[in-house]
Amino acid sequence: MNAHDKAKAITSMKGGKHRISALTAYDYPTARILDEAGVDMILVGDSLGMVVLGFPDTTHVTLEMMTHHTAAVARGVNKALIIGDMPINSYDTPAQALATAQALVQAGADAVKLEGGIRQLEKIRAIIEAGIPVIGHHGMLPQRVLEEGGYKKKGKTKEEFSAILEGAFALQEAGCFAIVLESIVPELAEKITAELTIPTIGIGCKPPSGKQTCDGEVAVISDVIGSYPWFVPPFAKPHTDVAGEIKKAAQLYIGSLR
Ligand code: KIV
Repeated sequence: MNAHDKAKAITSMKGGKHRISALTAYDYPTARILDEAGVDMILVGDSLGMVVLGFPDTTHVTLEMMTHHTAAVARGVNKALIIGDMPINSYDTPAQALATAQALVQAGADAVKLEGGIRQLEKIRAIIEAGIPVIGHHGMLPQRVLEEGGYKKKGKTKEEFSAILEGAFALQEAGCFAIVLESIVPELAEKITAELTIPTIGIGCKPPSGKQTCDGEVAVISDVIGSYPWFVPPFAKPHTDVAGEIKKAAQLYIGSLR
């Protein structure tokens, strides 16, 4: 399937039997395993900066880093749609946004993701007009963590609720095939999911009951497999303890040499 058909297939999953699954991957073996497991989308997220490269946030990630890791992921994937994340300062103008998107596609991405709502429309249109599928990213925007002084839940005030809703409609209108909604209040995620015709992919948008509010979910792989124990977001639910297993195996190996 080509990139367009893959993106269309994701859009058509809205309202279907299965929720859309998305996980991040940054390297060949992880991407290959996730693809073999049957995940719908693999995001080469700029969370790379934190969970692989050891930076405090995503603002240190460059396009060069993203293309390097996107290429590694692409070598391991046969089926899933691969999303290349556009790093901070790589989409300041429509022309720069298009060049960045093309570089990620050249590295092996099927689609690209960039953060923001209404202020990014021109850039999103430039990328889509050039034939590259775009997934929006709306709500809490990790690339703005320094300006905002932390990761804060969005949509709590009436003004913010309406602005995010309006932005989601604008992203759909611009031609995004789906939208990632990050850390917005559950009522807003539910409303956007109900009113948009494209799928919403949530992260940190569920109420404490765990009730689903989006058409799909995306998670950072280290949060799912427990490979980055030093910071686990409050909404993350590790399904295994890879960090613990690595430590045990390393200790057994070290012990075998004594
Ligand atoms: O970079 C990333 O992993 C992301 C997800 C949190 C959606 O953008």
